[in-house]
Amino acid sequence: MLKKVFLSAAIILCFVSSAIAQELTTIKLLPPDIKGGKSLMQSLQERKTSRSFSTKKLPLEVLSNLLWSACGINRPDSGKRTAPSARNWQEIDVYVAMEEGLYLYNAKTHVLEPVLKNDLRKNTTAFLQPSRSSVANAPLQLIYVADYAKISFDANDEDKKGYSFADAGFIAQNVYLYCASKGLATGVRGMVDREALAKDMKLSDKQKIVLVQAVGYPSE
Ligand SMILES: Cc1cc2nc3c(=O)[nH]c(=O)nc-3n(C[C@H](O)[C@H](O)[C@H](O)COP(=O)(O)O)c2cc1C
Repeated sequence: MLKKVFLSAAIILCFVSSAIAQELTTIKLLPPDIKGGKSLMQSLQERKTSRSFSTKKLPLEVLSNLLWSACGINRPDSGKRTAPSARNWQEIDVYVAMEEGLYLYNAKTHVLEPVLKNDLRKNTTAFLQPSRSSVANAPLQLIYVADYAKISFDANDEDKKGYSFADAGFIAQNVYLYCASKGLATGVRGMVDREALAKDMKLSDKQKIVLVQAVGYPSE
């Protein structure tokens, strides 16, 4: 009898959690618009770290171009990306924390896959942001996560960590340059509570948070 009750409760729980996950749907991104924006030299001239953001959301077109610039596929024949990657491991996953929830950028299909329905940005403790800081206003927090399962078995711990930081750094710089070219505000951060954030994101022990990068419009 007790077994039956537990079984029914487990089935109900499965239905409820899959219904919640279903509420967050895949975001199909637009193809990259490779024209427009400021020149590379002008973007380099204007690249900077911002720490004040408006709460204004990014339109789909901007979100699409931003993620493609970050580490989208620029050579479909080989599946290689806009950012280089040590031994082409492509171990950095770009998670996108927005008001609606947490998404994962899938470069192959150029979509944002739903991960969690919670607004992780609200956990200012995990992001080590004083609640008065307007970094918390940013509509996007990009979270660069190294998936050690994608790194070949012969790499030692120093290589895994070093290459992951380098690879995430290239992605972050692509984001910096895209933002400079479009007048957006951005700032990369290493100071985050990785343990708390990993818990919020429900990461596995092979997934290591490397850096976080806020993106949005500059505050007025
Ligand atoms: C790996 C790395 C980690 C950083 N971590 C933080 C951080 O935790 N908090 C922060 O406010 N800025 C952080 N920054 C931004 C630097 O403070 C910023 O790049 C530096 O002051 C130079 O300013 P600029 O980017 O405008 O040239 C980080 C930058 C890098 C490259």
